[in-house]
Amino acid sequence: MRARTAVIPAAGLGTRFYPVTKAVPKELLPIYDVPALQLVMDEAVGAGADHIVLVSSRVKTPIEKFVTPDAAVVEKVRASGREDLANRLARIGTDVKVTITYQDNPHGLGHAVGCARAAVGDEPFMLLLPDELRSGPQLLNALADSCEKRGVSAIELLRVPMEKVSAYGVITHLPGAPADGPFDIVGIVEKPAREDAPSDLIIAGRYVCTPDIFEKIDIIKPAPNGELQLTDALELQSGDSPITGVLSTVTRWDTGTPMGWLEAVVDAALSNADSADAARALFADRLAR
Ligand code: UTP
Repeated sequence: MRARTAVIPAAGLGTRFYPVTKAVPKELLPIYDVPALQLVMDEAVGAGADHIVLVSSRVKTPIEKFVTPDAAVVEKVRASGREDLANRLARIGTDVKVTITYQDNPHGLGHAVGCARAAVGDEPFMLLLPDELRSGPQLLNALADSCEKRGVSAIELLRVPMEKVSAYGVITHLPGAPADGPFDIVGIVEKPAREDAPSDLIIAGRYVCTPDIFEKIDIIKPAPNGELQLTDALELQSGDSPITGVLSTVTRWDTGTPMGWLEAVVDAALSNADSADAARALFADRLAR
C-alpha cells in the first residue's frame, strides 16, 4: 500500500541554534513569512499524505499551538479585510488531519520515530526531518512510489565529496546500479572515517519506511552518545533485504544552523512574487555599502 501518513519529528533540542532555540522551536522559525514546519507539512500533503503525526515535546508548546485551529484569530483577520491571510490561517491544522504525540526526552531520531508507532499503525509512512526543506514534494513522492512498488523502505540520498562523508550516514549498495540510481542498499554506516566509507552516497532527511522499522527500533542499542539512531534500524532492515536509495534531485536547505536558515530565508524572499523586487533592491543596497 502507499504511504498516507507522514511523521515529522520535532522534539529535538536544536542545540546548533542556541540561544534562539532556548525558547523558540527551530521548526517554527520563519522562512521569510511561513514557518518551516508549515512548508514541511505542505510537502507531505503534496506527496499524498492525509495524516500528519507530529512528534513533539511537552516543553515545545508553540508547535502544538501552531497546528491547532483558531477560529477567533481567523475571524479577527477576516473582519479586518485581509481575506487572503484569513484563508491561509484557516487552512492551518484543518486541511490535513494532525495527531500530536510526545517524546518526553530527546533520546535520538530512532526513539522519536518509535514514539509515533501507535499513531501510524501497521502501515508504511513518510518521514520528514523538519529542519531540512525541499523545493517541492517530487522526491518524497518518488520515495512513496518506490516503497509501494517494491515493498521495502526508500530513502533519500545525496552524493557528496569524499572528504565530507565522515559527518553522515553512508550507504553500501549492490554493484551495477546506474550512476543516478536507484540503489539497492545493503548496509549503512554512521559517520565512517573517509578511508572506511563504502561510498560517497549519504542519507538525507526524507524517508518512506515500511512498518517493520518499529520492530527494528525496539531491538537497536543506543549509540555511544546515548541516542537511538534511525540509521541503525534502517541498517537492520537492509540486512533482511535491500532497501531502496533514491538520489535527490530537488533543491534542499538545512535550516538547523543560522547560516543554513539565512540561505533559506534569502531564497524564499527572492522567489516569492510579493517580495522578490523589494528583496533584490534591499540586497543590492546592502552589498553596495
Ligand atoms: P537534529 O539532530 O537535526 O535536531 O534532528 P536536534 O537534535 O534538535 O538539533 P541539534 O543537532 O541539537 O542542533 C532532526 C529532527 O529530528 C528531531 C529534531 O527536532 C529535528 O527536527 N528530533 C531529533 C527529535 O524529534 N527527537 C530527537 O531525540 C532528536
